[in-house]
Amino acid sequence: MTQYAPPLPTGRPRRNRRSQAVRDMVAETHFGVGQFIAPLFIIPGENKRLEIPSMPGVYQFSMDEAAKEVAQCQELGLSSFLLFGIPEYKDAEGSAAWQDDGVIQQALRLLAGQIPDAQLIADLCFCEYTDHGHCGVVTDDDVDNDATLVNLGRQAVSLAEAGVHTVAPSGMMDGQVGAIRDALDEAGFQEVAILSYAVKYASALYGPFRDAADITPSFGDRKTYQMDFRNRAEAMLEADLDMDEGADMLMVKPAGMYLDIISDLKREYPLPILAYQVSGEYAMIKAAAEKGWLDNENIMVESVTAIFRAGADAVITYFAREMAEYLQRQPQTP
Ligand code: PBG
Ligand code: ZN
Repeated sequence: MTQYAPPLPTGRPRRNRRSQAVRDMVAETHFGVGQFIAPLFIIPGENKRLEIPSMPGVYQFSMDEAAKEVAQCQELGLSSFLLFGIPEYKDAEGSAAWQDDGVIQQALRLLAGQIPDAQLIADLCFCEYTDHGHCGVVTDDDVDNDATLVNLGRQAVSLAEAGVHTVAPSGMMDGQVGAIRDALDEAGFQEVAILSYAVKYASALYGPFRDAADITPSFGDRKTYQMDFRNRAEAMLEADLDMDEGADMLMVKPAGMYLDIISDLKREYPLPILAYQVSGEYAMIKAAAEKGWLDNENIMVESVTAIFRAGADAVITYFAREMAEYLQRQPQTP
């Protein structure tokens, strides 16, 4: 960058910070409620609303309760939801993921019928559905990539038949976006979009989610499929492949500790870049706030603003509803 700013006594950057009015006028980062996506955990049954102990303010909902939650969120202007299912039964392949009467398939039919203008995104993976807790078919103690691709196609088509608008494959299988695009197109679902978890790191920040969705692997870890957090160039490779395979949007996950990656992707790719502020990021803030060590609202706003500042176009966060409430009170962010 050319350097032309005059130093003191002429240059005084503090002049642009003198009042809230001038700060608002020159603020570089803006976002609105339409850029938030709320995760929803759906459980079988009726009339259920169970708070997740490690994620205060986040619930597992039966689908009737989820419908109420979605309707309330929409009154706040929050219209995009990412659905995770906790199934009735699990098996080695995770076949409950592609059953016509599966927990997410039923929820999609209900929500699409009751709340037609909500954007319904469904997570596409098997860890919630397999008895071993891994993200696909296991052969010789490791996830079998190509066998899993076939099942991902089945799951995608089943969700499309139930009315999903966007599928979000999160298993980090090689070739998953292409396989899902092919399966959807072949079944006539050209309009269903793919939000790819293109860059997903093997992170300890998923801990609370694994309690929420009951998916802790019964052996090993996810390091043979999720990315090594020491790597930055590899994120570009993953993004490149997914764009080539037909992804409509790219996601980086987690968000707050991976702002460099969000910034890299935003600079290089013309697709929308989303970021997932994950369960551990949420839990850390809530825990510190409960202890009175940090201010919940200020840290919430600062943490999501940082993700937008890095270049994210939209953010998936457990704070989505709380942010929507905050944005109703605030004429301008933050
Ligand atoms: C499953 C999945 C996970 C998350 C989203 N989808 C967990 C994992 O990969 O172990 C994590 C979300 C969060 O922590 O909020 N593939
Ligand atoms: Zn998974």
